[in-house]
Amino acid sequence: MVRHPARMLPTATAPSISEPSPSLHDDRATHLAYTSSVPREHGFEPLRVEGRLPDGLRGTLYRNGPGLWDLFGRPYSHSFECDGAVAAVRLGGGSAPALGAHRVTQSEGLREERAAGRPLYGSNAAWRTRLWNGLRLRAKNTANTALLSWQGRLFALLEAARPTELDPATLDTIGPSDLGIEKLVAFTAHPRAVASHRTTYSYGVELGPRPKLDVHALPWTGPARRLTRIPLAHNVMIHDFAATERHLVFFVGPAELVIWRALFAAGDFRSLFEWRPEHGSEVIVVPIADPTRVVRFSVDAFWSWHVANAFERGGEIVVDLVRYDDFATMDQLGASGAPFEQGVPTRVVLDPARRTMRRDALTDARAEFPMIDLRIAGTSHRTMLLASDSGRRNALLRLDLERDRLSRFELEPGERASEMVFVPREKNAPIDDGWALSMVWSARTSTSHLAILDASRLEDGPVARVFFDHTVPLTFHGVFVPS
Ligand SMILES: [Fe+2]
Repeated sequence: MVRHPARMLPTATAPSISEPSPSLHDDRATHLAYTSSVPREHGFEPLRVEGRLPDGLRGTLYRNGPGLWDLFGRPYSHSFECDGAVAAVRLGGGSAPALGAHRVTQSEGLREERAAGRPLYGSNAAWRTRLWNGLRLRAKNTANTALLSWQGRLFALLEAARPTELDPATLDTIGPSDLGIEKLVAFTAHPRAVASHRTTYSYGVELGPRPKLDVHALPWTGPARRLTRIPLAHNVMIHDFAATERHLVFFVGPAELVIWRALFAAGDFRSLFEWRPEHGSEVIVVPIADPTRVVRFSVDAFWSWHVANAFERGGEIVVDLVRYDDFATMDQLGASGAPFEQGVPTRVVLDPARRTMRRDALTDARAEFPMIDLRIAGTSHRTMLLASDSGRRNALLRLDLERDRLSRFELEPGERASEMVFVPREKNAPIDDGWALSMVWSARTSTSHLAILDASRLEDGPVARVFFDHTVPLTFHGVFVPS
């Protein structure tokens, strides 16, 4: 197990103070400022660069997250309810070394609400409107969680709804898409590519009286297709999954939707889900070559928001993920400013033939948002990038699983870092040789910047920083599209 090294402090120059900021020593104030609404929408415009941009780093990083934390002056009850916004940083190839854009995704629901001048969806709507929405099975697709780049197209994702297509050149909203999959009603925020298959796999949970897991394949050329539909015992949230070269693996934790509350939007967003540990967690293993031969078995209840990667090892399937004993983090993802108690990076080993699972912690650090060099997704990996956020001690971590080493770059007090996205140094660079890109927000300046670090030397800190002149609120996930 990898243990904490001594903390290393950043040495790069911080931007000048330009706006009032919350106290760096007040976690709640800092959190509330970081989770405020998009202060300014704009198309691509030049961004200020500090340091030296890597020569080969050319392309656009897109980040998605909650963009409007309130509407008509009424705060949302939970980050998952907020209207989505996408921020983008384009490096090289533009009219300036770095360009940035930031736009709120114009969902059909948000457009309706703005035309009506009042909330029409979610827990902020009037109770008669909620009831009417429930009867018509209508909800707002806020597209606020993640992004998919597929066949030159860009989609903003919300796991309970269809993808929302965006114009990658302008971030303008094009509209909802079924990707060509018949009767697509839900699509994960975590599609997973298996590079050797040149295919991205995905799923959606179809809620209702007979809930189903709908599994899809999105080839990098050619049409998307449905692989299978698997009945589920309960209406559950499944936030992420694992994909190897032979199997797709789903961990179905007992985070169960309370249907009557969902239908009538009763209570706040958090109260829509109930943690039922007595139901255990179900492991569902789907062979890609024959998706009808599903293996499923139960284990003790646990929760995982995110998987790093998975691979085959003999007859076993190895999955690295961030594990939690329960679903308490769902409350902490709300708008209260409560600290987010992060999970344990964990190796899970499945034996589908024996229907068993065992697990070991990979480190004693608490972290989230695991990321690898996606060129080897579905095969064995040696390192993992993670973001560690515990209030004022926000850090970027790299786990070297072969050398049993944890390296760490600790941000300044009041800075918050996003998930890191790995970009290879060049197309054919050795595995793990590349850049780690993280969007960092500073309470001191109320601005956000893209930090670019050498992924193998996180402890050295950013080689370059690219500054927006405003806050980019919390983003969950992103994707880098090479130019
Ligand atoms: Fe996620």
